[in-house]
Formats: sequence, C-alpha cells, structure tokens
Amino acid sequence: MTQSKTHDLAIINAVCLLPANDGTLLRAQTSVAVTNGKISAIGPRAHVGAAEIIDAKGLHLLPGIIDSQVHFREPGLTHKEDLESGTRGAVLGGVTCVFEMPNTKPSTTTLEHLNQKFQAAEGRVWSNVSFFIGATPDNANELEELELHPNCCAIKIFMGSSTGSLLVEEENNLRKILAKGRRRIAVHCEDEARLRERRKLVEGKNNPALHHVWRDEETALIATKRLVRLARETSRPVHVLHVTTAEEMDFLKGAKDVATVETTPQHLTLAAPECYERLGTLAQMNPPIREARHREALWRAVNDGTVTVLGSDHAPHTLEEKAKPHPESPSGMTGVQTILPLMLDHVNNGKLSLERLVELLARNPARLYYAVGKGEIRVGFDADFTLVDMGRTEEIKREWIASKSGWSPFEGTKVKGWPVATIVGGSVVMRDGQLLGRPIGRPVLFEQR
Ligand code: DOR
Repeated sequence: MTQSKTHDLAIINAVCLLPANDGTLLRAQTSVAVTNGKISAIGPRAHVGAAEIIDAKGLHLLPGIIDSQVHFREPGLTHKEDLESGTRGAVLGGVTCVFEMPNTKPSTTTLEHLNQKFQAAEGRVWSNVSFFIGATPDNANELEELELHPNCCAIKIFMGSSTGSLLVEEENNLRKILAKGRRRIAVHCEDEARLRERRKLVEGKNNPALHHVWRDEETALIATKRLVRLARETSRPVHVLHVTTAEEMDFLKGAKDVATVETTPQHLTLAAPECYERLGTLAQMNPPIREARHREALWRAVNDGTVTVLGSDHAPHTLEEKAKPHPESPSGMTGVQTILPLMLDHVNNGKLSLERLVELLARNPARLYYAVGKGEIRVGFDADFTLVDMGRTEEIKREWIASKSGWSPFEGTKVKGWPVATIVGGSVVMRDGQLLGRPIGRPVLFEQR
C-alpha cells in the first residue's frame, strides 16, 4: 500500500537544537518535517510519508542563522556588493536571513527607498531579507510611520559618522527620534564631536594601527551612555550595535531595562596591535578592533548574558579602496559568509556552547526585532535551517568568498565546524558548498508591537 505524502521534506537523524519548555534549548536526535515552507512536524516519526528525505546523520540541525547586521551596498555602491552577491555569500556560509543596513546610495530614509530595496530583492536574493530604515534629522517626523512597514526590521541611527552620510549628532535630534514610535532602534554608538577632535591624531600618518587610538574607548562609551540616558528618558528600547569595549559592557550590564547588546565575531577573534600589523587597513572598521583586554571582556559578556546578538557587520570595500592611505581608507570588512564558521570554531574551542550560539545567531535576533516565524525549530515556524558538521575542519579561502569585494580578513584561518547545507523556506539552497536552485529568499515579516 502506498502512503499518501504527508510532508514535502523531512530531515532525519540530525541532532536538532530545539526550544525546551523552560525556555532553554535542548538537543534531540529526531526528525523535522516541512510542508509548504513551514515546519509541519517534529518527532521520531515526523518523516513518515515525506516526499523527500535528507539523512543528516552526524550533523547538527540549527534554526536558520540570522545575520542582523550587513551592508550589501545596493543601490549605488554595487561595485562593492549587491543583493545577489551578498545573499549568495550568506547562504554559502549557512546564513538564511539577513537584515541590511541603510547607508547605501541613496541612503534608505524614505518609504520609496525602502520599497525600491524590496523590489530590487525580488527574485535576486538567496536568503530571506529585511532592510533597516535610516534616521536623519530631516526624516525624524516620518520615522514613526516608516517603522511600521511590515518587512522593515528597525530604524538605524548612526551617532558617529562611518561609511556614507547618515548621522544624527545633536542630542535634540536624537531625543526627537527616540520619543516617537515604539519599536527597538538599532544604534551605532560613537561620539561624533570626539571623533572630529581626535582625527588629528591619525591625519597624514598612514598608520591603521592608530585607528583604535583615534576612535578610542571613551568615544564609544560617551555615545553609549548618552543613548541609554535618552532611551530611559523616552522609554524607548534600543539595540547597541557592535559593542567593542570592556567599559561599555560593564555599563550595559546595568542597562538591560532599555538596551540589548550586539558584538561581532571579528571583535571576538582579532586583537590590536597584531591584527593591524598583519592585515593593515583590512582590519580597519568602526568601531575598531581593540586590544586583547577588550576581547576578553566581550567574551565574558557573551557568556554572562550581557550580549544579546552577534552580527557580522559585513561591510565590503574593494581591495583597491582599502589600499588608500589611512585614514582615507574606508572602514569595514566582509563577514556574512564567515560569521557561522568562525563561531562554530569558537564553540569547538570551548569559548561558548552551541546552545548559546544558537541563541545569539537565531533566537535572539528574531525575538528582539519581533521577526515572525524565525529563530527556532518549532512547528508552524518558517522552514529555515542550517545544517552543520561540527567535526569538519576547513580553511577559509579567498576563492570561497562570494563578496564582490573579493576578500576576507580570515583568509588562511582553519576552522573546525562548517555549514554543510542551508535550507530557506523548505528549499535546499546550499549543499556541500554548492548553490542549488534559484534565489528564493523572501522579505521577513515583523510583528508590530
Ligand atoms: O566599519 C564600518 N563599516 N562600520 C560602519 O558602521 C559602517 C560600515 C560600512 O558601511 O562600511
């Protein structure tokens, strides 16, 4: 007797990272079934009658990895990256979902710009996508309305200038933006006045090792403290992006009432001065990579619950652009393709647990921005998964990097732990390093709270 097909796909024999009733994550070797792009059953017999079966024996099945901080440069800067190449890198690295930043050209500051990005993404993105809306002193009155776009992840504020022209420096403007609207706002915290004042320390020196001296700890701390004060004053939740200093982490431990916290794999992996000696301007980003004492503090914050999310801050620039003398050289490095391999290696080295990693790269980014159906392997959730081989050792090679910019600061690094399949909406889009099918990524939906 032939059984009628009950599910489109089932993944069997993997050790799955599942949500437990007490809010933690548990590991279970079980089957997960998918129907119409959603998770339809979980359990030892969930695969019965599935049209297609993936045997994932020896592998771990994670909820689809979310990189909630990437710059894909479209429109306007597509010689560095575009939505197709950026999301191709994402799925090759095991990422199923990206939230893209607004400092494109033009900056994403109006409904028209936001809609243009979603239109440009149609049929061209390999992973699911959302876009941030950039805050400016001029669009402050419209942001309340703009943040309600169902597929927009959040408003982004640059308190210090970085790549592009987005900047909100004045306290009154910051207050105005925070006071209206309700959703969590993501913020780049560096104090613009101090950056301007200290630029003379690096001007004409062509020394990238001074990048973190110019943009020092105090520059970051001043902005983070100001943001938290204004967030409390206006009762507005904020998300502090790429926190890089021990001092900010100490402060943010006591700011959980209003602030969630992000850091990056590169700040957890590299340290000054070694990274600048070895990589020069390729190690230059904002806020900067700092000395090892900060890196150790970031690790403590990852493991004591201060850090909520990891994001790659994938910020590609061409090698030609990076060859300019510092500080004219642009800040930023690629990362969307290496965020998961690097962090799996840290798991294998005992720096954090796989459960904690799944919180930081899937559950928490989905929760803090209220993404619908993302971040957990749960019946009814979207069928986005990342299958990883925790025992596989690979070297990160330039040829593997999909970014149009064509490089990674981690070339030559050997990592243990590797993404072997990426499943987006129930379709396998990467298997053993090969892209499969077409770019079927979709806009992420957000709950309005
Ligand atoms: O290093 C950085 N590069 N930091 C940012 O905040 C922006 C980014 C970029 O877009 O290049």
